[in-house]
Amino acid sequence: MTSASTSQNAFLHPFAKPTKENFIKLVRGQGALVWDDKGNELIDGMASLWYCAVGHGRKEIGDAVAKQISTLEAYSTFDPFTNEPVEILAEKLISICPMPEARVFFCGSGSEAVDSAMKLARLAHVQAGHPERTVIISRMRGYHGTNYGGTSAQGLPLNKIGYGPLVPDVEQVASDDLEAMSVLMSQRGNTIAAVLAEPLQGAGGVYPPTPGYLEGLRKLCDQHGAFLIFDEVITGFARLGTWFGANFYNVNPDLLCFAKAVTSGYQPLGGIFVGKAVRKSLEADADFILRTGYTYSGHASACAAALVNLEIIERENLADRATHIGKRIGDALNALVRDGVIESARGDGAVWAAGLHSTQNNIKIRDRMLELGAITRAINADTNTFCPPLVITDTQLDKLLDAFATAASGK
Ligand SMILES: Cc1ncc(COP(=O)(O)O)c(C=O)c1O
Repeated sequence: MTSASTSQNAFLHPFAKPTKENFIKLVRGQGALVWDDKGNELIDGMASLWYCAVGHGRKEIGDAVAKQISTLEAYSTFDPFTNEPVEILAEKLISICPMPEARVFFCGSGSEAVDSAMKLARLAHVQAGHPERTVIISRMRGYHGTNYGGTSAQGLPLNKIGYGPLVPDVEQVASDDLEAMSVLMSQRGNTIAAVLAEPLQGAGGVYPPTPGYLEGLRKLCDQHGAFLIFDEVITGFARLGTWFGANFYNVNPDLLCFAKAVTSGYQPLGGIFVGKAVRKSLEADADFILRTGYTYSGHASACAAALVNLEIIERENLADRATHIGKRIGDALNALVRDGVIESARGDGAVWAAGLHSTQNNIKIRDRMLELGAITRAINADTNTFCPPLVITDTQLDKLLDAFATAASGK
């Protein structure tokens, strides 16, 4: 550990050393490009933090949000209120939801979506007369945000240290190990509330599911009377070339968490699709009151941003574009594997990772890429990830991949 003088910055950055002083100050964005305060142009290879599907600088979203703010910025949607943007957005989301007869619950972020889904899963069992069903099983390498539920459920041990006792009855098993999941579910028997999984593990290093894994989870949940929760905070809204990972992998969950690309980040918004089985329990007693939700659940201006964002995804056919982008990234990374420059390439749709050799340094590669005018994310010790805005041009994509090839070759 090195000692350091107290930082002068008022802003305490998330996921950073509290003593770090210098950050890259971004001032403007357009499409897949962003600029810093020194005038440097950077290709955004990460859609910021996996969210900016429609690209930066979309005036039409800004206009819709400004209009909503100057009409009714927001108003609580706790009983007895509602507002027009949230009602229209809920209808729109249900029209693209992979799960039949679902409803949608809103919150402000992916972490809130995960915590709310964990609560709803347990609550639905209580309402169905099974309060003993409290256990939530998640996977190693999974990332589910940083609220206490998501911190307890995530499978990235470093992110769990130092926060005191976490939520009880939340356990992890090795990712992709269906047998381990099956054994644990048999041991926990009828105390299981839910299994929580990202269809493709994102922030843990971009790991697509092994063949049959998600189908296997669905089967195990059905056998054991547990709900299946998909955390689609990264995979939602065309990232894989379909609206949701559930469509891409053809497996339907009982609850589906979303955030990020629902607005492409123009406003903070998250939510959960609440499927038929969970709904049925929550709606069974007409006098039951759902006592969870957030001040900004159904925030009118955030919903206005989401509506235009979804319209752009459809109008510009960004789902097809994701498939095209993913193929180009996959081809380029696989060529680097064949040339021995990197060890492995992993991904589906337009979210990919380069697995590095143990002799390579992901931070050095990331920093060299910044010098070359391109952004990737360095994850763990051995991974650089790619998740560009779905509007990135082929020329920009080639520049991004060239910069990575140069940096990974140590040049
Ligand atoms: C799969 C997944 N779940 C949850 C979250 C947390 O979302 P947020 O940072 O919006 O709280 C993330 C964020 O990266 C994520 O990737």
